[in-house]
Parts: sequence; C-alpha cells; structure tokens
Amino acid sequence: MDVAALRKQMPTTKNMTYLNTGWAGPSPMSVVNAIKERLEYESYNGPTTPEVRETGKQINLQTQEAVAGLLNVSADEILLTANTTTGLNNVLNGLPWRKGDEIITCSLEHASILLPSYHLRESRGVVTRVLQLAPGEPHDSTLSKVEAALTERTRMVFFSHIEYSTGLRMPVEGIRALTKDRGIWMLIDGAQAAGHIPLDLRAIDCDFYSIPGQKWLLGPDETGALYVRQSMIPEIQPVDIGYDTALEYDREGGYVPNSDKIEKLLVSTASAPLHAGFLEGIRFIDEVGVEAILERNLSLVTALKAGLAPLSGVTIQSPMDGFGATGLVAFSIGGADHEEACLELWRSNRIMVRNISYPASLRASLDFFNTEDEVTALVEAVQGLTLA
Ligand SMILES: Cc1ncc(COP(=O)(O)O)c(C=O)c1O
Repeated sequence: MDVAALRKQMPTTKNMTYLNTGWAGPSPMSVVNAIKERLEYESYNGPTTPEVRETGKQINLQTQEAVAGLLNVSADEILLTANTTTGLNNVLNGLPWRKGDEIITCSLEHASILLPSYHLRESRGVVTRVLQLAPGEPHDSTLSKVEAALTERTRMVFFSHIEYSTGLRMPVEGIRALTKDRGIWMLIDGAQAAGHIPLDLRAIDCDFYSIPGQKWLLGPDETGALYVRQSMIPEIQPVDIGYDTALEYDREGGYVPNSDKIEKLLVSTASAPLHAGFLEGIRFIDEVGVEAILERNLSLVTALKAGLAPLSGVTIQSPMDGFGATGLVAFSIGGADHEEACLELWRSNRIMVRNISYPASLRASLDFFNTEDEVTALVEAVQGLTLA
C-alpha cells in the first residue's frame, strides 16, 4: 500500500493528525469531486429534465450495487438510507413483535442500539436484556453469556459487529450459530465495520445489517445502507409512508401495498450528489482493499498499544490481540476528565481523537492513511497530558 500517495488524495491528512475515522472518515478528493460534479450537472442541466433524472437513477442503482458487492449480498436486498440509525429503526419499528418478546444486546453498545430497543418497551411491550460485558470480553465468554440469556421469548439478537466504545470485534458468527435454529432474528449494526474489516453477510447469515457512508467508507454525511434478507422483506412494515410504499393507489381510498420490495421503505426525495459521493467512497476503499486496510490498521494499533501500555496512569480498554482487536483503541487516563483531555490534544497538538463515556476513555481510530509517526505523536502527547 502506497500510504504517502493515498494521503496526497486526502486533504485532512495535511492539516492535522486525524485519528477519528470511527466518528467520520476524512473524504478523499474523488468523493468531494463526485459530489461537486453531480451538483453542478444538476444545476446546469435542470434537476427534473429526463437526462438528469435518468442519470440520477443510475447513480442510485450503482450505489446499491456497490454496497451489495461490499457486503456480498444482492442489490435488491439493499436500501439506501441516510445513516446507520435510520436503517436500525426501519427494522426495529417495522417487525411484527408480540408483547413480551425479548431482545438481547450488551452494555458496550452505542445509543443507536440501546435507545431504539428500549423504546420498543413503550411502543410494543418488547423487553431488552442487556448483557454486561467487559470492555475486551473474550469471545467464548460472550457466547456463554448469550447462551445463558436465551429464553423461549428471545426474538432478536442485536449487536454491533465492532463495538464503537472499545473496538471489540464481536463473535457474530458464533452468536448466529447459537440462535439460528431457534428462529431468532439477527440485526447487526455495522457502523464500525463497513470499510474496516472484510464483510460477507452470506457467511454470517444475519437477517439485517445497517451501515453508514461517512465513517470507514469515507463518504459524506447523510449516506448509508440497510441490508434486509430477501425472505424478511415482506415481514417489515414501513413506518414512514412514501411513493414506493404502494404499487398503485387511486383517489377513492384504493391502495395496493408494495410488500415484497425493499423500496417500500423509501420515503421521498433522496440526494443523487450525496449518493455519488457515497459510491466514490466505496470505490476508493475497494481500490485500497479492505483486507489490506485491516492488516495495516492492526499493525498501527499494535504500535499504539505498545506505546501507551507503559505510560503511568494509562489503562488500555480495548482487547490487546487475537480476533477481538480492530483499528479502534480506547484508553483511560487515571483521574483525567476525558472530554477535557480530548480538547487538549486538539488544541495543543492538532490531534483529533474522541472521548467515550462508557468506559470513560479516549478513543483513537487507526486507519490505513495514518502513519507510524502519527502513532508516536499521539503517545508523546498523551505522555505530556499524564505528566502535567
Ligand atoms: C456502533 C455505532 N452505531 C451507530 C452509530 C450512529 O451512526 P449514524 O450516525 O450513521 O447513524 C455509530 C456512530 O458512531 C456507531 O459507532
């Protein structure tokens, strides 16, 4: 991988040490140009002319196909969404729950998993069981906890593929093996996984998978996609109703629902320029190669952990090695206000990380475009913080 050449295409890398892809990835110029060019094309050629509408449709289709390729599923199982959370809500609010059904999730999860699940208690009488996991919980122990939590009422297992908090990669294949024969639905939040680790949803065999465009795929905000297994599409009732929810309708109350196509979940106008940017992000990541990306990220992460581990007061929260480690590293600084520490790293060193509330820590995202020198810069800056 020619890291120097790739960095030249990513303006952010010239201006700072950017270690926050897990929140939003820095777009390469090809993404920025794709958005600009499409916007200009629309403004010069009239947004509703047949040519513009046709090419807009093509962009959406190509984006659906590119996402399908990334996930190894088929394009008619992919819905383009505005972000990960929208996709999760489409599934959770659209499924036919029965009162007393149970969802199993865990304590390391993002609010985008916990809150929509808790909300189902109010709206549908669904109970969420939250497994308490250690920041770097070993896989066999996670699987034992999932198995012990299964009941006759378990209807869904709902986890992130990679935990946003500590970067722990979850044993989703093992969880599926425990639950598939019981007919339990599997919804996976792939916010930290798409563009970060190789994905094969056919192999995982999950029912639903939601991803963003703006993180490891380096696309713009307001892009994302939801996978729904073909056989599950008729099970999901749209909550927000738009043009594609009906196959046909009349002016006297007549209405034929579109039950079998994933487009039924589309609500209204979407942005072709943003989809063009999303598409270009996927192409860029495809060219760099997700396997190569993961390999490089893990080597940067190993260097960062080795640099941080000896620092006094610093505790690494992320798994140290093995299958659980990814490009996200969370570390706590004893006695520190992590929000303040995060700001201080930015103000004094132009290093962009984020703070995490649970477990209280700083989180660095190491992505392929980061360098060994940036890892060293972070270690030295943290050392400066802990000694202050
Ligand atoms: C695991 C996880 N889920 C969901 C989200 C929310 O993503 P989005 O803004 O795409 O809805 C994030 C964002 O950090 C995340 O890390």
